[in-house]
Amino acid sequence: MHLGASTVQYLPIFTKLDDRPVLVVGGGDVALRKCQAFLKARAQVTVVAPEFCTELTELAAQEQLTLVKEYFDTHHVLGMMLVIAATDNEAVNQAVFDAANAQNIFVNVVDDQPKCGFIFPSIVDRDPITIAISSAGTAPVLARRIREKLETVIPHHTGKLARLAGDFRDQVKARFKSFSDRRQFWERVFDSSVVSKVQTGDEQGAQQQLTEMLTQPSKLEGEVYVVGAGPGDPELLTIKALQLMQQADVVVYDYLVSDEIMDLVRRDADLVCVGKRAGNHSVKQEDTNQMLVNFAKQGKKVCRIKGGDPFIYGRGGEEVQVLAQHGVKYQIVPGITAAAGCSAYSGIPLTHRDHAQAIQFVTGHCKKDGQELDWRGLAQPNQTLAVYMGVIKSPHIQAKLLEHGRAPETPIAIVENGTRQSQRVVRGTLSELAEKIEQHDIQSPALLIIGEVAALHEELAWFGQSEQVSSFAQPITQVA
Ligand SMILES: C[S@@+](CC[C@H](N)C(=O)[O-])C[C@H]1O[C@@H](n2cnc3c(N)ncnc32)[C@H](O)[C@@H]1O
Repeated sequence: MHLGASTVQYLPIFTKLDDRPVLVVGGGDVALRKCQAFLKARAQVTVVAPEFCTELTELAAQEQLTLVKEYFDTHHVLGMMLVIAATDNEAVNQAVFDAANAQNIFVNVVDDQPKCGFIFPSIVDRDPITIAISSAGTAPVLARRIREKLETVIPHHTGKLARLAGDFRDQVKARFKSFSDRRQFWERVFDSSVVSKVQTGDEQGAQQQLTEMLTQPSKLEGEVYVVGAGPGDPELLTIKALQLMQQADVVVYDYLVSDEIMDLVRRDADLVCVGKRAGNHSVKQEDTNQMLVNFAKQGKKVCRIKGGDPFIYGRGGEEVQVLAQHGVKYQIVPGITAAAGCSAYSGIPLTHRDHAQAIQFVTGHCKKDGQELDWRGLAQPNQTLAVYMGVIKSPHIQAKLLEHGRAPETPIAIVENGTRQSQRVVRGTLSELAEKIEQHDIQSPALLIIGEVAALHEELAWFGQSEQVSSFAQPITQVA
């Protein structure tokens, strides 16, 4: 079953109803609430019903709306922009629906979703900022809960801040000709103490500071954010990573960053793929380094986003060295490394007092002139090896560990696409490592976990097993 296949698709738009005619059919409380929503948008409201509640009569007395004391007739919809049927009479609601549809007028029959050509979303109101949430009529309670969450995280001074920005819009436009310069200016403003001034009610101070910022030299300084995106599940991104992804003018990424995470970068940022797979570097590392320097020197905010953590087999160190040599400003944001993500999502603790007192991160893919690993040390019992990029070299890794005394029955796990929907965990013993990889056609990215702890997968992962292969795992904290 494809969830949502039958859900009606709505286009989210905000309409300007200033002085436009709208019709509400019904004279009770529900009609009143709809009238109030229309009046807030300054619409010209007509209400048709044989009787009206007191509040509607009062609004009419204040000349805020027009009451037509009649039974509904099809001619009432003529010339209207929007129509609402808010009666408790199904036949009348149907007649309103038919009349509006016949004229191609948007109509909403209250509490009858199939008869709604438009809907009223849940609103978080920080005028002039408005956040509208809709579940397309499928789960209003869920939409309401999302709204409640947003109410707690969107500060109340947001509206004031937006109004202040609106007051300065023309000056900023005159000062900065390009869209990108204006955007960066506003990013600086919203990161500055202008915000706290508005928050504490010092609006004059905020205005003064904004005016000063406008007179400062316009040369914008570039910067590189070296961001760890984690192993794939977008919910494992840090808040800082997300913020910087949203601020970047250019995003430089490679194949390890999942599509779901790339969906979260700023929509109008330029995307540059420097895709890397073991032994298949589409853009040379030196060229990537230079690209980062060049973008920053052009005054751009560059998000260099990497799978996992940038400083663990991520070449983040090499890139930052080059940035430092060229005097380019940078920030480094750590990410959840594959070993931590795969461990949690497969139910394999990397250390355990009974099984492993140490954990070593190892790469199976050395530089061409790389030195041999310390196999004797790596073959010691009661420790865990997390092997990155080890799939291709797995026969060599297996042979070397056995040769240096690691027991053939040492448990191993191979975690492919760790933390993603497509995660697979293959279990076995060290003597079967390469064979399991071949048998299950393991593809990159995959992490090898070698050590006694791997056997805990069966106990700690809650999902069923099939031929010692398990598919997508939820974080084990969700075990019932
Ligand atoms: C170039 S390294 C990058 C490591 C990354 N910087 C980190 O901290 O996770 C690539 C290797 O990380 C491992 N890896 C990265 N993401 C993974 C995932 N979602 N599942 C399993 N292994 C992963 C694989 O061994 C892959 O070959």
